[in-house]
Amino acid sequence: MICLGIESSCDDTSLALVRDGRLLAHISASQAPVHALFGGVVPELASREHGRLIGALCDALFAEAALAPGDVDAVAVARGPGLLGSLLVGMAFAKAFALGAGARLIGVNHLHAHLLAAGIEQPLMFPALGLLVSGGHTQLYRIDNEREFTVLGTTLDDAAGEAFDKAGKMLGLPYPAGKFMDELGARQEPVAKMFPRPYLDNDTLNFSFSGLKTAMSAYLAKHGVPPLAWDVATASVRPEAAGNTEIQRICASYTQAVVDTLVAKTRKALERESGIRSLILAGGVAANSALRGAMQALATDNGLVCQTPSVPLCADNGAMIAHLGSLLAAQGYFHPLSVEAIPRGRRIPDDMCRAHATAL
Ligand code: KG4
Ligand code: ZN
Repeated sequence: MICLGIESSCDDTSLALVRDGRLLAHISASQAPVHALFGGVVPELASREHGRLIGALCDALFAEAALAPGDVDAVAVARGPGLLGSLLVGMAFAKAFALGAGARLIGVNHLHAHLLAAGIEQPLMFPALGLLVSGGHTQLYRIDNEREFTVLGTTLDDAAGEAFDKAGKMLGLPYPAGKFMDELGARQEPVAKMFPRPYLDNDTLNFSFSGLKTAMSAYLAKHGVPPLAWDVATASVRPEAAGNTEIQRICASYTQAVVDTLVAKTRKALERESGIRSLILAGGVAANSALRGAMQALATDNGLVCQTPSVPLCADNGAMIAHLGSLLAAQGYFHPLSVEAIPRGRRIPDDMCRAHATAL
């Protein structure tokens, strides 16, 4: 069975082809340099860019895989959560493709696709405890199989990625700042007391990161740290700025505060949930080197394996959509053409239809 996956929920346009669970081809275009000029994603620009790029990326994908559209059995598309205008571009493209190619359509939950992305590279073990950390979400899940996801905790305000991006902006780092904070922070030891570990003094599995960015703002003001200069043309940190040891130490300490907080709540979730066989770390922030190390150590302490996608598959990508779509399609699940895109903040309905799996 060949499944085309389409991701356009935010500022990455990405498509992939999977055959019987194996990734055949994958192509992505990031709009980060466009949005970096504005310090964050501009929704109208994002949907225009998706519309401009998606057809050419699809042609290039099929050329790379040496396949034709008629070879596709199922089309999986990220239906939400995300920016509505961006989602609609991918959804309209997926519906037209499925109709033209005579393929089944399947709308995929973007968050569930992130959580199962490691499954592209290794067999996943369920039940799993999943920590999803991205630019828009920070959530703990119990995952019993590719259809059953239970949210155990969520952020009450900012997501972990947002905490990095907003703090990075204060430091003068380009958007999205998470990877720059990671790279700069890796060059110094963290100072434990520089920033608080927020929202740990409670019995819930929820998170709150908004106070951490206030702590960053207060620290910079108190110590008179000037923002760095970054190269607008290339959306990168200038080499002379990257060598600033004070900024490196701030990045290391801030990252450690985020990581310690995520690990503390994940540990609490592991103590509460029974029968867990693996720890899954997923989402754009799962690319963070300190977080990967800390979650690996937590898994080992608990006699578990930590299942994390390789760094390129942590960010938004079409491969994770194709992967989950093909798992669901193989079980006979699909959507009619009336399937709707679901913007951020609305619950994604469980409205898949089911036919005999052998029909594909
Ligand atoms: O999953 P993703 O690609 O998009 C969303 O669905 O949000 O996540 C993007 C987020 C951004 O906030 C970005 O700064 C963060 O992931 N990120 C990182 C790293 N790489 C990307 N945060 C910390 N360390 C990194 N290495
Ligand atoms: Zn995402």
